[in-house]
Amino acid sequence: MPSRVRKAVLPVAGLGTRFLPATKVIAKEMIPVIDKPVVQYAIEEARDAGIEEFIFVTADGKESIANHFSVQPVLESMLAEKRKYAELKLVMDTTLPPGGLHIVKQHDPLGLGHAVWCAKSLVGNEPFAVILPDDMVLSGVPCLKQLIDAHAQVGGHVVAVEDVPREMTNRYGILDIEREDGRLSKARGLVEKPSPEKAPSTLAIIGRYVLDPVVFAELDKRMAGAGGEIQLTDALNRSLDRSTFHGYRFEGRRYDCGTRVGFVEANLAFALAHPDMRDRMVPIVERLLKEYRAGPG
Ligand code: G1P
Repeated sequence: MPSRVRKAVLPVAGLGTRFLPATKVIAKEMIPVIDKPVVQYAIEEARDAGIEEFIFVTADGKESIANHFSVQPVLESMLAEKRKYAELKLVMDTTLPPGGLHIVKQHDPLGLGHAVWCAKSLVGNEPFAVILPDDMVLSGVPCLKQLIDAHAQVGGHVVAVEDVPREMTNRYGILDIEREDGRLSKARGLVEKPSPEKAPSTLAIIGRYVLDPVVFAELDKRMAGAGGEIQLTDALNRSLDRSTFHGYRFEGRRYDCGTRVGFVEANLAFALAHPDMRDRMVPIVERLLKEYRAGPG
């Protein structure tokens, strides 16, 4: 029986150059979708999935991320004094419990595989989650919980996947599928960012993983792959003689907040799903579209 998944690694060391100038002094992950920083959605999803320890792989200048999940005594006593209890609750709910937050620095941006490797000694020898906060998922059951439940059945590596258009395979880790069983696809191999002609399928990894710690033995080798970076996908591929790999077609929809269009889409989708906003948002979106279609003037 695979042991329980208690720890999550969040690689958040990136510079966020695609969102300059917004990210000149603000960490990309702290930009809000509606009223919460993108990274808070990831933490909430993971807490709802039973994760107890969070390991931020971070870089200099991105201290605001860990601060957001720490106690802020001045703000909290000010809100208490002013009897703003609802606001105080919002602030306190974001605080991770003592021992629940770890920070490790990734001094050089050598790739996702390297970022995950930086968390090796904090993870130890147990299955763990990796969450890429840029990928936001709207779903009934939290996406990571779906993976953890699947992992309890099949063990090994279990990763969230979705079908992408063939012309986009060069943006993702792609599965070479051995067999399919309902939502699960067992892979015999993985390729990072293959060209559409070379992609073994169109089933792409998205930013939610439950991994067997055998992957660290491969990450130790620091082998560079696509884009000259140490790729997590490559290390997973090389570990397939010691661990199974299943893609899990999660229920829900993913929004890629790593791009400007995906970020705006996420804001709209989360607003339309928000009980306090939905009724006002629907006519606004309809009017904007109508005006856009009618043309200028
Ligand atoms: C990373 C992974 C890739 C995965 C993607 C999901 O790529 O390397 O395998 O499909 O995340 O978002 P990145 O988006 O960092 O280039």
